Amino acid sequence: MSERNTVEIVDLKKHYGGHAALQGISFSVKKGEVFGLLGPNGAGKTTTINIITGLISASSGQVKILGREINGKYPAGLRNRIGLVFEESNLYKRLSGRDNLVFFANLYGVKRERIEYLLTEYKLQDAAGRAVGKYSKGMKKRLLICRALLHKPELLIMDEPTGGLDPISADIIRAAVTDYQQAGKTVILSTHYLEEADRLCDRVAFVSEGKIAGLDRPENFKRKYQLDNREEITLQDVFRIINRPD
Ligand SMILES: Nc1ncnc2c1ncn2[C@@H]1O[C@H](COP(=O)(O)OP(=O)(O)O)[C@@H](O)[C@H]1O
Ligand SMILES: [Mg+2]
Repeated sequence: MSERNTVEIVDLKKHYGGHAALQGISFSVKKGEVFGLLGPNGAGKTTTINIITGLISASSGQVKILGREINGKYPAGLRNRIGLVFEESNLYKRLSGRDNLVFFANLYGVKRERIEYLLTEYKLQDAAGRAVGKYSKGMKKRLLICRALLHKPELLIMDEPTGGLDPISADIIRAAVTDYQQAGKTVILSTHYLEEADRLCDRVAFVSEGKIAGLDRPENFKRKYQLDNREEITLQDVFRIINRPD
């Protein structure tokens, strides 16, 4: 594996019974890059992320993360180098926002100052003492990001981080992606928002029905397919254009 790659995936396949959720996905994510998985519901984004993070295993294919080959068993110590933000929240609802972070900070041996820094950075300082069960969706998502960043992971992976959020929370989260990259870290994010992928990602893989329909820098896609000239373009339009015979 190239030293410059944080993630390398070759011909990844995943079957659920007779259903092929991933039909041979390959891509590499360079160190320091924001890499987007863009696709509609059911495309295979979460399945890909779950394999990268070791939540499920692949049916076949190769996965290498931070120099470690994933072969059935997830290597010890690798998870401590990754930060995860899932679609579903798994926070302790009865604990306050701050105490949720304290719980994980203790697991990772993270100092209290880091918690206060993140609570402030993600505009949660006023709500930090309140039970998470009373948080809005956007506040929970921001707390999840604080939790994912507690131990300063080398690789941050976010599955649809802004889906269904209020615009203010979505903007805070998008800023977090850019900030994290500026700190020299690598980010993988999935989204079904074309505009978000364009704004945040250095390169984007268009995922459709378990395959990568295209992979390039957003500006190259736009130039190649003249996407800028269209007033309102949907994800479906893009797939139609990419899949159109030349
Ligand atoms: N645990 C599962 N059992 C059976 N099918 C699944 C399971 N998880 C995902 N799938 C199927 O795999 C495909 C890809 O799903 P997913 O990765 O969740 O897509 P996305 O995150 O892009 O919306 C879908 O057809 C979905 O129904
Ligand atoms: Mg998903």
